[in-house]
Amino acid sequence: MSAVAGTLAAALDPVLFARGLGFVAEEWQENLLRTQAEQVLVVAARQVGKSSTVALKALHVATYEPGSLCLIFSPRQRQSDELLRKVRTYYRALTGHAGRPVRNDDVPVKNNESELELTNGSRIVSLPGSESGVRSFSAARLLILDEASRASDDLLAAVVPMVATGGQFMMMSTPWGRRGFFYELAELDQTDAWERHRTTVYESARWPEARRARVRASIGSFAWSSDYECVFGDTTSQLFSTEMVDRAFTSDVLPLEIP
Ligand SMILES: Nc1ncnc2c1ncn2[C@@H]1O[C@H](COP(=O)(O)OP(=O)(O)OP(=O)(O)O)[C@@H](O)[C@H]1O
Ligand SMILES: [Mg+2]
Repeated sequence: MSAVAGTLAAALDPVLFARGLGFVAEEWQENLLRTQAEQVLVVAARQVGKSSTVALKALHVATYEPGSLCLIFSPRQRQSDELLRKVRTYYRALTGHAGRPVRNDDVPVKNNESELELTNGSRIVSLPGSESGVRSFSAARLLILDEASRASDDLLAAVVPMVATGGQFMMMSTPWGRRGFFYELAELDQTDAWERHRTTVYESARWPEARRARVRASIGSFAWSSDYECVFGDTTSQLFSTEMVDRAFTSDVLPLEIP
């Protein structure tokens, strides 16, 4: 393939773009890279490549959609910065890439812990998990909420309006018990408002049997089923199991009339 054809192919297909940067996506990662759905929810195991995949997606958007804004949220600024660091690593590979859309002398306009601004005007910004101080952003082409099961309802409420019309909202996480919006959207919501993806440890090429066995032997069964098998279980900090709480409610008893 000629350099021009290669660049065009990478522009049209984020999977080829990622491959050009040395990242050969697994099937579930291809689906995430290619999806155009407006709302995407990913339940996936630890260390399967959730953050790397969305980092590449953000870089693809920033590179080929001049002036676009990608926002990265997670419960802590440090985690958001970490995801931005992955973007930056791939960006460096991009500038040295044969069919690159970025010239060799093309240095980013801004390149710090929490922001990467390209010469085409696109910005990728990493943000903290507290809703105060993040309200100044709007019209994001791509909004990422990483480690979403641990994010607060307040954060969700603050970020939802920041997604541009026609933009994409992607949230990803391991489960963290039967609580919070991530659990509700992943397990209880019956609508098709969210495109749902799920990758357990058994479906990931990063986790061959020997590696699974090593980790399985060193952690408790709750952590294993939650973090690796993607089960939304009752958390150890819950005094009563969700099942017990559900059983305590009955429609057979009428509420007391207080005179
Ligand atoms: N398709 C792939 N090819 C090569 N390496 C990959 C691929 N997918 C993921 N990795 C590698 O797997 C490791 C974990 O990736 P990443 O941090 O993105 O996973 P994660 O699911 O976000 O992890 P965590 O649960 O810790 O947040 C990284 O070293 C990343 O480079
Ligand atoms: Mg991650």
